[in-house]
Amino acid sequence: MAIEWSTSGPDLLVELDRSGAVPLRAQLEQQLRAAVRSGRLVAGERLPSSRTLAGQLGLSRGVVQECFEQLVAEGYLIARAGSATRVARLEPRPVDPPAPARPVAGPRLVADFASGVPDLGLVPRDDLAWAVREACRTAPNDAFDYGDPCGHERLRDVLAGYTRRVRAADADPYRIVVCAGYQQALAVTLQALVAEGRTRVAVEDPGSIGTVTAAARAAGGDCRPVPVDERGIDVAALAASGARVAVITPAHQWPTGVVLAPERRHELIAWARAHDAVIVEDDYDAEFRYDREPVGALQGLAPDCVVGIGTVSKSLAPGLRLGWAVVPEWLAAPMAAAKQVADRGAPVLDQLALATLIESGRFDRHLRRMRAEYAGRRDALVTALAEHAPHVPLTGLAAGFHAVVHLPRGTEESVIVDRALAAGVRLYGMGRYRAAGAAGWPPQLVMGYGNTSARAVAAGIATIGPLLRTA
Ligand SMILES: Cc1ncc(COP(=O)(O)O)c(C=O)c1O
Repeated sequence: MAIEWSTSGPDLLVELDRSGAVPLRAQLEQQLRAAVRSGRLVAGERLPSSRTLAGQLGLSRGVVQECFEQLVAEGYLIARAGSATRVARLEPRPVDPPAPARPVAGPRLVADFASGVPDLGLVPRDDLAWAVREACRTAPNDAFDYGDPCGHERLRDVLAGYTRRVRAADADPYRIVVCAGYQQALAVTLQALVAEGRTRVAVEDPGSIGTVTAAARAAGGDCRPVPVDERGIDVAALAASGARVAVITPAHQWPTGVVLAPERRHELIAWARAHDAVIVEDDYDAEFRYDREPVGALQGLAPDCVVGIGTVSKSLAPGLRLGWAVVPEWLAAPMAAAKQVADRGAPVLDQLALATLIESGRFDRHLRRMRAEYAGRRDALVTALAEHAPHVPLTGLAAGFHAVVHLPRGTEESVIVDRALAAGVRLYGMGRYRAAGAAGWPPQLVMGYGNTSARAVAAGIATIGPLLRTA
């Protein structure tokens, strides 16, 4: 049924569909809302009385009254005792920003050597599905209540055991904070540390400079890049930076791949103790070490001044958003407070599922499988480079799933990256991870193979071999 009524303004068309599933009151409400939003009903305009409108539309007066009351409550209409219901003035909406351009699909790549992502095709879906189901089936009722913001005690127990066993960490459940990945653990840690007066944060250069700088600033601090050489972070430069927090990747430096040298580990701890400073250890890919047992976490050597952060982003998948921080005892309460403000605690089912996965041995089994898989890709990279560009050194192979190709001096990273892309291979220059870009530094490429099959690694290197040979 369509009906027009004439108010002091333009005619308004209301169409009610009496055969449809949507109740008549809901239809009237939707149409009046839309008319106010679009300006068809102008601010200040009088509406007909509920009696008149009900009569015109063939509805009961009560239905129209309820509809008016709803729209008054929502702010679309204004009712004043003794006068007609009028149209409210809506605040103009901010102009929508233009929609971001959709990325244009380029030609099919032979290989993409992006770093940081594990093989997304080998996520252990069956194990995850089993663990979530088990967690949901066996969780006691009180697990579904608001819990400790630092995490469910069962996962914290399991993680304390796991990090002690696998990373030689000095961990107990009461010093573990379960977080949404490394990113949140870093943010919450810096919130707590900056609030305690440690405002200057050092980040490795090259390193995750953007991520750490943003987190330091969000916490109210500032950030200084400190150079990394072939033995890890330069501790003398760190001391000179005035920082009281250092965010580092000792087990497999991101992105150079160097392992922090033993004497540097001790120098770093001495620096922290001398300056009442804190080392934030990003232990992102330590589960994957190929040439020997993983180097134990720095946190195990100095639990009083190191925050050890782990994540499942490399071992399982980044989309799961789960990680943890093992913190010094004195930092446990400030961390709990910061985590409470951030989100009141990680989702409990995810936590219990991870605990179940680790306890069942399925997590270790997945790691063993992935270690063999990545070792195969690493070998494919070494073999292909030896065949197609034998003069090109490759370092950082000890752990994780990225390594560094050293280009001949005088080569421009960006030129190689552009030419490789034209040939169907996506490469990443080290300059993008340096505070001051590539200029003045030896040219290098960071070669990730976590989400690149051994076959693609071999094909990619074969494709860019001529480029690397003539570089
Ligand atoms: C150096 C480094 N640490 C940690 C992570 C993991 O971060 P998250 O756990 O927030 O996914 C990444 C991700 O790429 C990384 O590059």
